[in-house]
Amino acid sequence: ARLVVLVSGSGTNLQALLDAIADDGAAAYGAEVVAVGADRGDIAGLERAERAGIPTFVCRVKDYASRAEWDAALAAETAAYAPDLVVSAGFMKILGKEFLARFGGRCVNTHPALLPSFPGAHGVRDALAYGVKATGCTVHFVDDGVDTGPIIAQGVVEVRDEDDESALHERIKEVERSLLVEVVGRLARHGYRIEGRKVRIP
Ligand code: GRF
Repeated sequence: ARLVVLVSGSGTNLQALLDAIADDGAAAYGAEVVAVGADRGDIAGLERAERAGIPTFVCRVKDYASRAEWDAALAAETAAYAPDLVVSAGFMKILGKEFLARFGGRCVNTHPALLPSFPGAHGVRDALAYGVKATGCTVHFVDDGVDTGPIIAQGVVEVRDEDDESALHERIKEVERSLLVEVVGRLARHGYRIEGRKVRIP
């Protein structure tokens, strides 16, 4: 399968995918990263792609007259690489109508909380503030809501008394990276069906 990965930051989830593909070989893993897109320049995620010799593109919201035009441009840039799956790996923008019209049902996101609890940009902070004793990460398909799409897999992380947001997020990210690598590989190798809210992987 051909993957386009979207990033906004450090790109450690992207790196985990690149490492798994390098270790297993693209054929055995079932997928290769054909391009990496971002909504901003100057981020470690893009450097990771460049170091791996993978083409990159940047679509900045401020370069477009409207959010809808930005979304259409992002969809067009992504479509140019003809991906089978799009992986939103720490991409901090909501994907819009045009993007979902083209890639809905084959766009996977990773979120650092156990959805449907704590959606949105501050999933780790919100879980900690709520006082939960366990949180984790969720890999799900993207739909038109914020972190509301069909869930593929989740990983649990215990909250420690001494945790602050960054310590907890680091532990979540360790689980998240391996979950994402496992899920993307399974989707790519086995295919899948989305039946309502249920994701079936044969
Ligand atoms: C991940 O925890 C992702 O779920 C969240 O931001 C983090 C991205 O990390 N939204 P990285 O850029 O892959 O290192």
